[in-house]
Amino acid sequence: MTPSVENLRVELGERAYDILIGPNLIAKTGEHILPLMRRKQAVIVTDEIVAKPLLKPLQQSLDAAGVDHRTIVLPPGEGTKDLAHFGRLVDDILACNIERGTMLVALGGGVVGDIAGFAAATLLRGIDFVQIPTTLLAQVDSSVGGKTAINTAAGKNLLGAFYQPRLVLADTGAMATLPRRELLAGYAEIVKYGLIADAEFFDWLDAEGGKVCDLDPAALNRAVLTSCRMKAEIVAGDERETGDSRALLNFGHTFGHALEAETGFGDALLHGEAVALGMVLAFDFAVRLRIASGQDATRARRHIARMGLPTELGAIGLAGKADRLLAHMGKDKKVRDGRITLILPRHIGEAYVMRDAKSEDLRAFLAEAA
Ligand SMILES: NC(=O)c1ccc[n+]([C@@H]2O[C@H](COP(=O)([O-])OP(=O)(O)OC[C@H]3O[C@@H](n4cnc5c(N)ncnc54)[C@H](O)[C@@H]3O)[C@@H](O)[C@H]2O)c1
Ligand SMILES: [Zn+2]
Repeated sequence: MTPSVENLRVELGERAYDILIGPNLIAKTGEHILPLMRRKQAVIVTDEIVAKPLLKPLQQSLDAAGVDHRTIVLPPGEGTKDLAHFGRLVDDILACNIERGTMLVALGGGVVGDIAGFAAATLLRGIDFVQIPTTLLAQVDSSVGGKTAINTAAGKNLLGAFYQPRLVLADTGAMATLPRRELLAGYAEIVKYGLIADAEFFDWLDAEGGKVCDLDPAALNRAVLTSCRMKAEIVAGDERETGDSRALLNFGHTFGHALEAETGFGDALLHGEAVALGMVLAFDFAVRLRIASGQDATRARRHIARMGLPTELGAIGLAGKADRLLAHMGKDKKVRDGRITLILPRHIGEAYVMRDAKSEDLRAFLAEAA
């Protein structure tokens, strides 16, 4: 049975917006954005890979709604999120004779969403924008929460803004063409939500995760909806990441960031793969500190491994690199006063912010981790 479209409201006062989740939404973009438009003009930003299967249906739906539109196609990949591409992108958008009421439509994964979102945040001091996330990671994570950014020579996501879209259309059918490896990387963020805040959701994933990754429409809808709902709730309570609640979303990310840094932030280890292994490491470290039980850690690891995500440092050539990993963790922005802040699990379904992890403890742990 085809699941119906779910509507999730992100409660952010005057910046509140809806996330629609369901199959076949891209073909209905025109009718969904028309009521939000101050001007019947849109600029679509996408990448070359996404454009092939998904640009036409989007353009046709804008045509059907009588919306004037132009399209800018970026090269795919993280390399596009830099200042040079950003400079060209804003010039190209300005060349479309935009006004504040022009709708910028970001069609793509987190790369397109982040760079187009930052362009929307800054062009004319802010123009309207809609996110149409086309990767699982973008649907459950990057398109929700209003963070937009590009990379600089000094590091990832260092130039950006909090800027909320007017609407998110998470078309679960759009992922039919997404490579399985990218899909699994996004799935890691879904598992994260279960592990940090919802034991029942984790139980369901443990049973039905295979269906989610095989793109079973009902299972996929439920996984995306539950994840977005959780992120939306956390974001609504902590829009600019000043409290602890939004920090919980970094579960697995401090370890993961070190793994990504050591493997060069590239195809060797995708972000979601690093997060998957990072979550396993966080569980094992919590067990070592007697904060979590070995039983829960084993359950989490087994699920992640069974889904085909990495769970061992050795498998990615990083066993025995404790000092290098620790150095990366020390550079992470979640460090205050020399102590490392980690998100650690108490058990499956509950995590907390630990502000004073000792680097000696971490070094000893990483040195032994296989
Ligand atoms: N703003 C946030 O809160 C936030 C959160 C997490 C990650 N991010 C950012 O998101 C980016 C990663 O996002 P991503 O994993 O979506 O990467 P991505 O945008 O690079 O997409 C991954 C690959 O899949 C391709 N692709 C996208 N949709 C497809 C589809 N439907 N069919 C076939 N191919 C498709 C893309 O062309 C690309 O090659 C990073 O830059 C990261 O910093 C931002
Ligand atoms: Zn992440």
